[in-house]
Parts: sequence; C-alpha cells; structure tokens
Amino acid sequence: MNNLPYIIGALVILAVMEGIAWFVLRTPSVPEFEAVPATEEKVSQVQPEKQEQSEPLQVSLEEKKPEATSDSGSFPSPTTEVVDGVTERTIHIGVRQWEWNPNVIRAKAGERVRLIIHNADVRHTLVIPDLGIDVDIPPDGAVADFMVTKKGSFDFLCGTYCGVGHAEMQGTLVVE
Ligand code: CUA
Repeated sequence: MNNLPYIIGALVILAVMEGIAWFVLRTPSVPEFEAVPATEEKVSQVQPEKQEQSEPLQVSLEEKKPEATSDSGSFPSPTTEVVDGVTERTIHIGVRQWEWNPNVIRAKAGERVRLIIHNADVRHTLVIPDLGIDVDIPPDGAVADFMVTKKGSFDFLCGTYCGVGHAEMQGTLVVE
C-alpha cells in the first residue's frame, strides 16, 4: 500500500496531460470554425457578381446614350467620286439604340454606295430587304458596299435584336 501515493500522483499527472492533450487537440478545430465564415464570405462575394451579371446591359445603355448623342450630327457629309465611270457615293451613318442617324439616306440610280456605319453601342444589323442587303454591325462599326440600280424608296431596319427599341430602328434609302 506504500505505492498508493505514487499511483494517485501518476493518475493526477495523466489527468493533467490528458487535459493538455485535449486543449492542444481542440485548437486545430479553431481554424475550421474560422473557415466556415470564410466560405460564407466567398458566397457573399459571389452573389453580388451574379447580380452584376443581370445588370450590365442596362447600365451600359444608360452610360452610352449620352456619348451617342454627342456623336449625332458629327459625321462627314456624303461625298461622290467617279471611279472607272461609276459614281461612288460615300455616306456616313450612325447607329445606336435605337436609331439610325440620319434615318433617310439618298443616292442616285446607277451609283455604287459605300455606307460607312458608325456604331455607338451594341451589335446591330443593317437590313434592306428590297435590295437583299444584310450587313452585320459589330460595336466598332462596319462598311457596306452595294450598287443601287433601281429608283425608289427602300426601307431599312435593324436585323439583330438590340433591346426594347429594336423594332423602331427604321430608315429609308431613297434612290432618285
Ligand atoms: Cu439595332 Cu436591333
């Protein structure tokens, strides 16, 4: 029975070590608790991005409208040049949501028309159904070359959906 104090002492030491071990082993779980809020932060960061994805179209429209307005009327006037007996008419035209500027353009039968299209915003398409013309207009603009052989008024429109006013993008090519 002389060993009893030593046994009790050993048990106390074991208990203390157990306590230390418990404390040491539970500390790694602390970062795990921190990791949970961290992922929540990531989720909360993703959500604003998703919201932004649904908005940029409207934002860009409002931002670019004033720019397009300031561009209106600043294009060079039409010019003509005779090349190999054919009159080439160069016409600058602006396009933006949701109009052509000007929306009436004029040429003469027998001319070659060179339309220099300045785009102020999103993708549009110039379509002149009666003349079989369909020209893609990316945001940086396009050039359309075509002969006009018959007199008349030919409506043109936008062939690529570009927003709520898409259907209102109408104009007329008058061939005299
Ligand atoms: Cu421009 Cu549709």
